Formats: sequence, structure tokens, C-alpha cells
Amino acid sequence: MLIKRPKGWELSENLATTEEAFLNRRELMKAVAATGATIALPGMALAKSGTGASTSADPSAHLYPVKRNPKFKLDRALTPEPINIKYNNFYEFGGTKAISNAAQALKIRPWSVKIDGMVEKPFRIGFDDILKQVQLEERLYRHRCVEAWSMTVPWSGFPLSQLVKLARPLSSAKYISFETFQDPKIAPAQNPPSVPWAYAYPWPYREGLTMAEANNDLSFMVTGAYGKSLHKQFGAPLRLHVPWKYGFKSIKSIVRITFTDKRPVSFWEAVQAREYGFWANVNPKVSHPRWSQATERVLGTNKRVPTLLYNGYGEWVAHMYKGMKGEKLFM
Ligand code: MTE
Repeated sequence: MLIKRPKGWELSENLATTEEAFLNRRELMKAVAATGATIALPGMALAKSGTGASTSADPSAHLYPVKRNPKFKLDRALTPEPINIKYNNFYEFGGTKAISNAAQALKIRPWSVKIDGMVEKPFRIGFDDILKQVQLEERLYRHRCVEAWSMTVPWSGFPLSQLVKLARPLSSAKYISFETFQDPKIAPAQNPPSVPWAYAYPWPYREGLTMAEANNDLSFMVTGAYGKSLHKQFGAPLRLHVPWKYGFKSIKSIVRITFTDKRPVSFWEAVQAREYGFWANVNPKVSHPRWSQATERVLGTNKRVPTLLYNGYGEWVAHMYKGMKGEKLFM
């Protein structure tokens, strides 16, 4: 089987990104540095550029901003929104970071999530009905990509444990598995003739967690960012964020959640198991086979900073991995 490795993870940022996008980002960074701005351009300006969060088309837009949970603090500045919304991994829409325009093809309503597997009763639930049954809050989280760049984001959403409760899993369920949409009509990479490098990829994108990880306080279902409903390129309308793990675990645009007693094989593990595993906990001392994980480039700055074990969230999560010496916890 021909396996084309993900371009972005092989190359340095300026090689992985189109020259135009790279230069635009440098201009943005200069502008942000000059004004000292840390947060967003006004929503109107974003909408004009075609990359704003949905407003009129999104019946949940009025729910934001939501109250910030002060428990989750950052050790660095927030990454400016104009930078984050132009630098994304969403391989369904292309193999570079400049997918924000292509991702606008995503149709976020109607949107429902199928809940199945080891649950009392499988069901399908509309995204807006989920929103009625959970408590939204804002959390400031760090995000560390396996490619050794990082960002910080004010996510809005709700703890994954609230969704687990709604799903009513059987006590025999050991893992939770997530699936992204599959629609070759809007996602060019799922349409082999139009994007040949993605031909061998095992679409749809999948990810998984243990039940203990899913119920950990930090596991967050994201429905918004920067005080608005979620930008499409961030994985609207519903994505995961597990900040102590490499970013590829944080699956976007979820349409299915399955409870199971078998460890799920995630997308990148299926593509290249030698490089990407199930656990993917951040650890500066365990290199990726092709590069060091000791430091990270902070988006929106010219800084490289040391990477922290569990991305700095050890006190919340380290207990879950005690005694698991035989497992490849950090890839
Ligand atoms: N989810 C889907 N469905 N498709 C993807 O390509 N990329 C992952 C993750 N979730 C990805 C995905 C990777 S590698 C990273 S680093 C983050 O999304 C990027 O999130 P961001 O674009 O919001 O920074």
C-alpha cells in the first residue's frame, strides 16, 4: 500500500506552508506586534475575509461569549485569533496549514452525532439538542502539535464527561472512539482523483481515548472559540481538545461517538504506526523518530520555549498512567 506521509509533519513551517500564506502570517504577526493587540479582529472584518465564525447560518451564535472558568490559566499570552484561524491542520481540506478558505465549504447545519456501541441504547442527537443539555464555559488552553509548534486558545465548550453521561455507556465500555464526517463532495482529500496524495489515507479521521481519559476534568468538547461559535477551520461545530496530548488527538467536526472494549486505532496510527501511537502524551524527552520534541515554536511570536511533560498538565493527568511502563505513552 502506498503511504504518503502527512506533508506538514515532515517539513519545517515555511516549507509546509504556501509562500503566500507564510508571508501573510508574517505580515499579521508584525501588525499584531505593532499594535500590541492580543485578541481578535472584529467579527465583521473576519466575515469579510471569508474565514469568520458562522453567524446568521449558525443558530447557536447567540450563546457566546460564555463565562470563563478561572481554574484554567495560561503561562503565556493568548495567540491572536487572526493567526490561529489561518494556521490549521485539517487534512480533509488539504495538506498545508492554509486550509481556512477551503474549510468554509463545510456545512454545519443540520448536524447530528450518532452515539453507539456499548451504550444502554444507541441514538442520534442533533448538535443544537446537545447544547441544550450541557453547561457551556470558556477555558484557556495550551495546544501542542506533534510538529513542535504550539498555540493558546480561549475555547468555549463543555466537559466531555457531560456527553459521556448523556450517552449512558455500559460499565463494560473501556474506550471511546470519535469519528469525523466523510464527504468527498466538500473535502477534497477524501476525493482521491482530486488529491492523489490522500488516496491511501484511512478516512474518515478517527481518534480514541480511554474512559478514564474521557472523564478527566481536562477533556473538553469544543463548540466555540474567541467568544464566538466555532470557526469551520477549527472543526465546527463540535471538536475535542485534550491539552496534555499532541494536537492530532483533538479530532475535529465529530459525527460519531462509539463506546467499545477494544482500543481504537486512530487515523495517524493507521497511516504510520511507527511514528504516531494511541497515547500521544506530550513528553519533551521522547523524540519523534524524525525530530526532537524538546522545544516548541509559539505561534504568533518568534520564540521557542521548552516543552513541558504532559504539556504542563501533569498534575491533572499523570495519575492515569501510573504503572503503565510497557506502553508507548509518549508517541
Ligand atoms: N481532525 C480532523 N478531522 N482532521 C485533521 O486533519 N488534525 C489534527 C487535529 N484534529 C486534524 C484533526 C491536528 S494534527 C492538529 S495539530 C489539530 O487538529 C489542529 O487544530 P487547529 O487547526 O485548531 O490548530
